[in-house]
Amino acid sequence: MNKNSSIGFFDSGVGGLSVYSLFKKSLPSENTLYFGDLKNMPYGNKSKDELLVFARKIVDFFKTQNVKAVVIACNTSSATVYDIIKNEYDFKIYPIIQSSAEVISKMNVKKIGVFATIATINSGAYKREIQKHNSDIEVIEHACPNWTSFVENGQINSPECLEDLKAHYEKISDSKPDKIILGCTHYPFLLPVLTKFADKETFIDPAKIFVDFIHEDLRKSNLLRISSEKGTEKFFVSTNPDDFVTNAKLFYEVKERPSII
Ligand code: DGL
Repeated sequence: MNKNSSIGFFDSGVGGLSVYSLFKKSLPSENTLYFGDLKNMPYGNKSKDELLVFARKIVDFFKTQNVKAVVIACNTSSATVYDIIKNEYDFKIYPIIQSSAEVISKMNVKKIGVFATIATINSGAYKREIQKHNSDIEVIEHACPNWTSFVENGQINSPECLEDLKAHYEKISDSKPDKIILGCTHYPFLLPVLTKFADKETFIDPAKIFVDFIHEDLRKSNLLRISSEKGTEKFFVSTNPDDFVTNAKLFYEVKERPSII
């Protein structure tokens, strides 16, 4: 595997940038590709079979770009299709849930809430992965079907968004969780609204834990690109490149218009 090869990131849209932006800060010399599957967004209400088709198409595309690794910057795909595709390629594939659950399970918490998409919640992946490492933690899972669309439609500051987030927050807080995982990479975009109901420390964004995991694994596998030069980057979408650039702004400045694949 060539250390100078790119690492491919994918998500249904801009959500994965909450991971990607931290990765670029942590490992600035890595060459990277990012794919936002806007045509098929939101992933959260799709079937496993559909999600499998989307993931294979994107990872196959990354394969044509000779990537050295793929980062599934999407909880929904990590929860539903990672186990199926993980052995189909000869490069590493990093899923967000499975890569961050161990660190989360060691946090000082008894009861943890999870906000995620319908598909992620139905898979039970967070509960399973956390309890694999610490069966004493109670995991309360809660689906938020509209949240990805609020981010992708530029409606973060709308009254509908505020009302919807408040209703979901009140529902999960009835169970009094010690912390709440933002189990969809779009949800950190909603923190300015969520922090109207609880302080920032209540929410766990797995992105930082995930990026640290990838960093350490690339190091151990001798795959880190060692260079004083900044890495290159390229963005791809399945449709609507201008929407992608606009909605990305909160997390990342996309300087070149994404190519449509
Ligand atoms: N950002 C993705 C996730 O982490 C997908 C959200 C969606 O498209 O519904 O689950």
